[in-house]
Amino acid sequence: MDAIRIYGGKVLSGQTKIQGSKNASLPILAATLLIDGCCEIENCPDISDVYHMLRLLESLGCRVTRRESGVLVDTRGVKEGDMPSDSVGVMRSSIMLLGALLARTGLVAMEYPGGCVIGKRPIDQHLRALRRMGVEITEGQEGFCARATRLRGAVHELPFVSVGVTENLILAAVLAEGETVIHPAAREPEIQALCEFLIRAGGKISGVGTDCLVVKGVKKLYPVRFYVPADRIVAGTYLSACLCAGGRVFLADAPCGQMQSVIDCAKRMGGRLREMPEGLLVEGKACRSLESRLVTAVYPGFPTDLQSLFMVVMAVSGLGGEIEETVFENRFRIVPELIKLGADIRVRGNRARICMGSRLCNTIVEAKELRGGAALVVAALSAEGTGIVTNRHYIDRGYEDITRSLRELGADIELA
Ligand code: EPZ
Repeated sequence: MDAIRIYGGKVLSGQTKIQGSKNASLPILAATLLIDGCCEIENCPDISDVYHMLRLLESLGCRVTRRESGVLVDTRGVKEGDMPSDSVGVMRSSIMLLGALLARTGLVAMEYPGGCVIGKRPIDQHLRALRRMGVEITEGQEGFCARATRLRGAVHELPFVSVGVTENLILAAVLAEGETVIHPAAREPEIQALCEFLIRAGGKISGVGTDCLVVKGVKKLYPVRFYVPADRIVAGTYLSACLCAGGRVFLADAPCGQMQSVIDCAKRMGGRLREMPEGLLVEGKACRSLESRLVTAVYPGFPTDLQSLFMVVMAVSGLGGEIEETVFENRFRIVPELIKLGADIRVRGNRARICMGSRLCNTIVEAKELRGGAALVVAALSAEGTGIVTNRHYIDRGYEDITRSLRELGADIELA
């Protein structure tokens, strides 16, 4: 069955290694299209979003070899950019191929990437910015065709911070003619990793880690071997599991330096955390309610991808709290499922109030998207009785094997 069974109530104890970052791997895999040769991407996570991205690269003529240590991508056979629709619609990251593919082949035809339950996920800003770099884009009902004989640098004053737009513009600019300025650029660690990859390949990018990136176009990039950093959202997921279930866990390789807003929040909720070079030690349950509202924000603010996980901490601990979601317009889809477990949560617009309350009781709940699905698994760890989370395939998009990792941390959990 496409589900997970959890026997709730166990205190956690153990350690698990945090996988490579999904949201760093995807743009870096797209960036290999800018390099005529063979790159090795180490610590690339074995998750379905990466599988789909690798399939897209193969459909474009790349030769992909999965190894224990990571993935080899040889782009010397890349053909015209015409992506197979059965993969494009599956995930957002296909839009990330747009900038790189335009730089490589000058022509891309693709369907509009699917939205998802957390929001419409429009691509208007991607297309608007690429047009400013000399790309001709013809839009149709189902998709669009983009053509660029030579991408030219431009100064982009973006209307708001977008991770995907920042990534697409970096990929379009790094081999373009002249200089490109991206402001405000997203500052997420995943973007910093993408810039590091491209700089190592010969790209000229300054302002990395700031909200103003300057990319000077170069003639050619060269094959590199690159180690993908650990996934801060996966680490935050298992941190929230300990805040819910209690116990003592060690998250090996957790990128503590990229998780300060999450670590600060966990400490304010009563968790005892110790940041170490090798990872993050987490002890104890959440036992204090947040004195203020938890507000999601672009990096280095509290990440929207951990909003559902910390809603679960507030609900399971009975401490309650308030959450304001400022990045996506529909990211409270987990609420009806938490109410089935006995939580008392009221949503008004982009704010959710989690009322202080009684112990949750497990039942069958339905994952509707990636991070909400992971949050339901975390909730079931601490709820009474046996729980089932269906639609496991959503969770497999971003977690290599959530049941194995949580079992390593002492949870009583299995595939159903
Ligand atoms: C990336 O999505 C991540 N995905 C998301 O992670 C993450 O939640 C998000 O950044 C915010 O950090 C990947 O990296 C593959 P945005 P992205 O463009 O790039 C609006 C996960 O769970 N917008 O920063 O799509 C958009 O609708 C996923 O791993 C436009 O209106 O996010 C959203 O409201 C979920 N027009 C806001 O901007 C556009 O053209 C920020 O989105 C583009 C975006």
